[in-house]
Amino acid sequence: MFARTALRTTLAASAPASARSFSQSAAVSKTVAVLGASGGIGQPLSLLLKLNRDVTDLRLYDVRLAQGVAADVSHINTPAKCTGYAQEDLEKALQGTDVIVIPAGVPRKPGMTRDDLFNTNASIVRDLAKAAAKVSPKAHMLIICNPVNSTVPIVAEVFKKAGVYDPKRLFGVTTLDVTRASTFLSEIAGSDPADTNVPVIGGHSGVTIVPLLSQAKQSDAVKSEQYEKLVHRIQFGGDEVVKAKDGAGSATLSMAYAAAVFTKSLLKALNGEKGITECTFVESPLFKDQASFFASPIELGPNGVENIPALPKFTAEEQKLLEACLPDLRKNIEKGVSWVSENP
Ligand code: NAD
Ligand code: LMR
Repeated sequence: MFARTALRTTLAASAPASARSFSQSAAVSKTVAVLGASGGIGQPLSLLLKLNRDVTDLRLYDVRLAQGVAADVSHINTPAKCTGYAQEDLEKALQGTDVIVIPAGVPRKPGMTRDDLFNTNASIVRDLAKAAAKVSPKAHMLIICNPVNSTVPIVAEVFKKAGVYDPKRLFGVTTLDVTRASTFLSEIAGSDPADTNVPVIGGHSGVTIVPLLSQAKQSDAVKSEQYEKLVHRIQFGGDEVVKAKDGAGSATLSMAYAAAVFTKSLLKALNGEKGITECTFVESPLFKDQASFFASPIELGPNGVENIPALPKFTAEEQKLLEACLPDLRKNIEKGVSWVSENP
């Protein structure tokens, strides 16, 4: 039902095989900034964005090493111009951007929840959002930094205070939950993961992650005794990586891939391509009284969020998952909102 064309498109296919393909130009030039470009996510994400032919100007910013990453990435023979910016040049990096992707922030270590990152990451995201609101208020903001359930409302509050908030242009990147769900379901169903599409709604943390497995065409492959374990694996997939990395951080490569997929879809939609839908965490009317932000399949268009379709009918299990999600999600959202009012 929620066909995800982006996941079926290999990123490599969009990279030119040789310098000859430089003559093909992107539909409309797009300037993309990555804030936190030297990090575990930032570096592979910068690489993948350099391969995207819809990106014409790639700005890499970090508090350390961004110029080195940019010098390296800039040697790839794709058309995007790639520039690195030092810590003091944030405003220069943001000038005239269409899309700003924010993976800046600290990652988890084993034993931590995403909410444990709040104290450090809230101020990082607030300060980057303040600069964006001042210099590039019309840019589409793609928030990766955790806890996403709180950092996205923080960005909204900062933009509101600056008088430039447009909910159509603010996204929490939850694509990794969708890629995980499709991978894990395909392992059970024996299907091609690229043809296994599971919408994931709610938020991006533990029980707030609600996979709608009933919407996948392979859903019958999941036996009732496998269902709970599969849902748990999707909800806590991040922990698997944090544990395996044993103190060296959380998902970086799969996250860079997921963010590159989402950015690619958004750029296509901004360039006028029709029929593009991605799950993402946005200000949403779907459960407005319980959670003002909610991830669901969103139709993207030339201005960002084009339409937030109604959700399909839930199974009894999915209804229970949603009931467990909403109270936690509400608390996470409120925490971000009240933190900004206390720490403007
Ligand atoms: P990392 O520590 O490897 O990289 C973070 C980068 O941010 C570093 O290069 C650091 O110098 C930079 N940074 C810190 N403060 C900055 C600032 N004020 N301005 C610019 N850059 C700054 O971490 P990572 O593994 O890349 O993870 C980054 C964030 O992404 C974490 O919060 C992590 O929890 C989150 N994450 C989210 C998802 C998701 O699905 N949304 C998935 C994985 C990780
Ligand atoms: C993930 O889902 O992998 C990220 O949110 C990182 C984490 O802390 O688990």
